[in-house]
Amino acid sequence: MDLVVAVDNNWGIGLNGTQTVVIPEDRKYFRGLTKGGTVIFGRRTLMDFPGMRPLPKRRNIVLTTDPGFELTGGEVAHSVREAAEMTKDDPAVFVIGGASVYRQFLPLCRYAYVTKLYVDAEADRHFRDLDLDPDWRLCSPPDIQVSENGIEYAFLKYENMNVKEL
Ligand SMILES: NC(=O)c1ccc[n+]([C@@H]2O[C@H](COP(=O)([O-])OP(=O)(O)OC[C@H]3O[C@@H](n4cnc5c(N)ncnc54)[C@H](OP(=O)(O)O)[C@@H]3O)[C@@H](O)[C@H]2O)c1
Repeated sequence: MDLVVAVDNNWGIGLNGTQTVVIPEDRKYFRGLTKGGTVIFGRRTLMDFPGMRPLPKRRNIVLTTDPGFELTGGEVAHSVREAAEMTKDDPAVFVIGGASVYRQFLPLCRYAYVTKLYVDAEADRHFRDLDLDPDWRLCSPPDIQVSENGIEYAFLKYENMNVKEL
């Protein structure tokens, strides 16, 4: 299981239920990584998807505590364990947010695909600073590029040296 996230300079990931800084290069990168695979996300992140619909061409699993919740075109899990169990035979599983879901799944993930956006954005949701976490190491130095909307960014990959099993 891996995860995909876009963070700013301060590891901020969202404000008021949405991602405030978005670059087209990251959208494309995200699609390329996750298409054909399985994506796991929280119910609040679903609310921010276009039309609040599952992402096309992927197996979608939404986490919620609501026992009556249904997702047309997707599946529902009610705990980390249930989501992990449902996806154990899937070859490519990506945790795609938001903050609470990243926090719970982080120890279980092998790789974190982190799009670093070199901006200071206002945020009320944050991702763990992997540069300060001894379990995680950056696989290669940042190759900083400039987005078509002028934002500096880099696609980073971190590896968890201490993957936990449930
Ligand atoms: N920058 C990025 O890459 C990125 C990616 C994704 C999201 N985001 C941002 O992250 C923010 C949302 O994060 P968030 O932490 O507020 O919400 P979230 O993690 O997307 O969703 C939280 C909800 O998921 C459900 N949930 C979480 N853990 C669960 C568990 N163990 N068992 C059952 N249900 C569980 C609960 O739903 P119920 O309340 O229905 O029980 C909970 O309220 C937004 O601002 C979004 O834009 C950023």
